[in-house]
Amino acid sequence: MKKIIELIKKEMEAAFAACGYEEKYGMVTLSNRPDLCEYQCNGAMAAAKQYKKAPILIAEEIIEKIKDNPIFSETEAVKPGFLNLKLSNHYVAEYLKQMETEKDLGCEKTKEPKTIMIDYGGPNVAKPLHVGHLRSAIIGESIKRIGLFLGHKMIGDVHLGDWGLQMGLIITELHKRQPELVYFQEEYTGEYPVDPPFTISELEEIYPTASQKSKEDASYKEEALAATYELQHGRRGYQALLQHILNVSVTDLKRNYQNLNVSFELWKGESDAQPYIPAMVEDMKEKGYAYLSEGALVVDVKEETDTKEIPPCMILKSDGASLYNTTDLATIVDRMKNYHPQEIIYVVDKRQSLYFEQVFRCARKTKLVEEDTKLTFLGFGTMNGKDGKPFKTRQGGVMRLETLLSDVNEEMLKKIKENQNAKFSDAPAKQAEKEAEETAKIVALSALKYGDLSNQASKDYIFDIDRFTSFEGNTGPYILYTIVRIKSILNKYVQSGKSLEAGELLPSASENEKALMLELAKMNQVIETSYEDLAPHKICSYIYDVSNAFNRFYHSTNILTEPVEAQKESYIHLLGLTKRVLETCIDLLGFSAPERM
Ligand code: ARG
Repeated sequence: MKKIIELIKKEMEAAFAACGYEEKYGMVTLSNRPDLCEYQCNGAMAAAKQYKKAPILIAEEIIEKIKDNPIFSETEAVKPGFLNLKLSNHYVAEYLKQMETEKDLGCEKTKEPKTIMIDYGGPNVAKPLHVGHLRSAIIGESIKRIGLFLGHKMIGDVHLGDWGLQMGLIITELHKRQPELVYFQEEYTGEYPVDPPFTISELEEIYPTASQKSKEDASYKEEALAATYELQHGRRGYQALLQHILNVSVTDLKRNYQNLNVSFELWKGESDAQPYIPAMVEDMKEKGYAYLSEGALVVDVKEETDTKEIPPCMILKSDGASLYNTTDLATIVDRMKNYHPQEIIYVVDKRQSLYFEQVFRCARKTKLVEEDTKLTFLGFGTMNGKDGKPFKTRQGGVMRLETLLSDVNEEMLKKIKENQNAKFSDAPAKQAEKEAEETAKIVALSALKYGDLSNQASKDYIFDIDRFTSFEGNTGPYILYTIVRIKSILNKYVQSGKSLEAGELLPSASENEKALMLELAKMNQVIETSYEDLAPHKICSYIYDVSNAFNRFYHSTNILTEPVEAQKESYIHLLGLTKRVLETCIDLLGFSAPERM
């Protein structure tokens, strides 16, 4: 379905052409003076220069052409040459009626579907998820959903941090604690046990302990390095341990991501990229891209137009070891070979932006990707505490994601109970308690995700649990509250024996109703732009506008007590459409609404 702004533009272009001007001057924007008009066209001012004519004269000519056009209810030329436009109520209602019947509310699928990989996990095996992983999960999941909605093939990859010293550290510590384990017997050739020699909580304790010891004790670190080397060079027992570490860890990670309503198509890790390294490095050397600099193998990636120093991309250290870079490059090889993406999007902390610039340039230069493969870095800012510093626990440590989530759940439960006590004091206590807990979980997720997504991704933001969980203001719970309010009215209507399909949407009967209708009509445009700009915050600010418009309409209108049946039916259609718009949008943001709150 065409975007409403494009339909208006078409009319304006025709008017400019009919008056003898180039049709490009018919460009239309949303009004920046909503008190005066709904849409505006500033083309007369631009045309004035080309045609050497006073802009107001051109504007007046255009008005002559459009004043009887049924899509407008008011058209006005205002000095120096603005064209102020208001749409006819009938036209807007017809547009929404079509939206109602369309699949996906008139959001068209892209004409050029692409295969897009999106890298938005990056959790490290054996380490708990922490708030640093929260933003990539929330933002990446939303972008993936928006892309899918628009018809792209989106492949999310968790890209586990499962390679490097951390594995050697765990093996070393385990060896100290349980030297008798069969994994450590070099001469052993049999099968290894199926059950892991640790639980997830043991694993999560082993890693930090080992990491601490290696900092204090040089010989411990030597052992860990040696274990890492042996693991990476195929020692059987260690590889069996690695499998256990991965299995235990991934099970736990999946549960955590599931609680966030986040899922990945691929559970690959850094270790999966390792087999591609030798041939990749050989090729870079052979083609003359890589050269030795102070013993290390590097590829120059600076360009003439650079305004800042872009250091070379290091491929191998002087001892021949590979690096984080090497793994990311080899991962690109893996992705190109096995999934043929036209674009790879990385949703990673913006402090890694220079790093990714190097990796992307190196991948292009050494032709790991096709000429037209798009490599996109979506860097996000830091989640800060109320003190403006990176978010920490009260003790000053790194906050585990689970702890954060349960804090938000708890706070939400408190608010939901207060709210439900006020409303459903007659519900049986047990059932009410259970429902409140379920509801709190759903609403808490909206608080957390909306609190994050409503900010432009690249900006830092302050995690403010009181504000995020509030039912008022620009918050997830406010949006859900609006949806729940609509559901409740629709339920009452159905309970009174009426059908939601009865009647049809009529032209708006009030200013507030018109304002709501105009908001709803923007949906397809907003979603497309939010994808083009990789900006879920645009969907947030849109649904905030829709919710505000709805609540203004709700407070000024007697919906269920409306005496004229056809009018009441029309209101019900409008409510149904508002609900669908909001629900579609929150699904794209990665959360859902409960039945009541
Ligand atoms: N594991 C990394 C970390 O915790 C993040 C990985 C980001 N993705 C990537 N392809 N490098 O910092």
